[in-house]
Amino acid sequence: MGEFVTVTTDDQHVATIRLDRAPVNALNSQIWGELGEAARQVTADDDVAAVVLWGGPKVFAAGADIKEMQGMDFQDFFARAGALQDAFDALARIPKVTIAAVNGYALGGGCELAMTADFRYAADNAKLGQPEIKLGVIPGAGGTQRLTRLVGVQKAKEIVYGGGMYAAEECLQMGLVDKVFGPDEVYDRAVEAAREYARGPYALRMAKKAIDEGVEMGLDEALRLETTLFTACFATEDRRIGMDSFVEHGPGKAQFVRR
Ligand code: CAA
Repeated sequence: MGEFVTVTTDDQHVATIRLDRAPVNALNSQIWGELGEAARQVTADDDVAAVVLWGGPKVFAAGADIKEMQGMDFQDFFARAGALQDAFDALARIPKVTIAAVNGYALGGGCELAMTADFRYAADNAKLGQPEIKLGVIPGAGGTQRLTRLVGVQKAKEIVYGGGMYAAEECLQMGLVDKVFGPDEVYDRAVEAAREYARGPYALRMAKKAIDEGVEMGLDEALRLETTLFTACFATEDRRIGMDSFVEHGPGKAQFVRR
């Protein structure tokens, strides 16, 4: 589809959104648009049940394109900034399980891109961070917000104020990364996990919505959202399949149809 972002779907309902802009997948404004388009495509495609976001075997993404931004003034960026957040929001709101498979650097906008996913699987040589402060700016695509929700206020301040790079293992300890694998394994393991989620029920969408939207609410409101979505599960075929299968064959044997 796009020049720098492609979407391919395998026979087990897993789509891969692949970035490919040598040498470091710098995210120029064309890529933001293509990422937003890819997010809308996998959201709308009923054949897609889970998504892997991948920058290829060398680099996930080294952040927003500094060479493109260098010549911009306030008005230039003000006109574009909404498009960046819109694209990343579209990725974060894909109503299916998403996993970022991170090889190499995920810095600045690259780290923010990885944080739009439900999970981050990283290669043991991956390095993540928010180095924007060293450029005289702050993270502008979720790095002060999604990061804080993942690692907490104190760690987010350390990462954003210091602008350092953090090895995969350290990111695992702080909750920025969920699993660490060898560099050659990370994409395959992400696809494997995505295939497992793709076999799950429609209720996974309800779970994602309840958690992602509920965390932004007060407890009372969030619990009401949970009740509404729990009740909504009773409108799905998978709810019937899941409970019938349990009663007839015991736990964990249901074959869901994602409806
Ligand atoms: N934008 C544009 N070009 C970039 C880039 C970026 N973010 N990162 C690297 N490049 C370019 C380099 O300029 C270089 O180009 P040339 O070959 O033309 O000189 C090429 O990619 C390779 O980079 P290096 O020679 O620096 O390679 P390295 O292996 O020594 O280092 C790196 C790799 C650690 C990623 C280093 O390039 C780096 O620190 N990059 C910048 C990271 C960064 O600051 N990201 C934040 C961007 S701002 C942002 O993302 C804002 C936001 O929140 C939306």
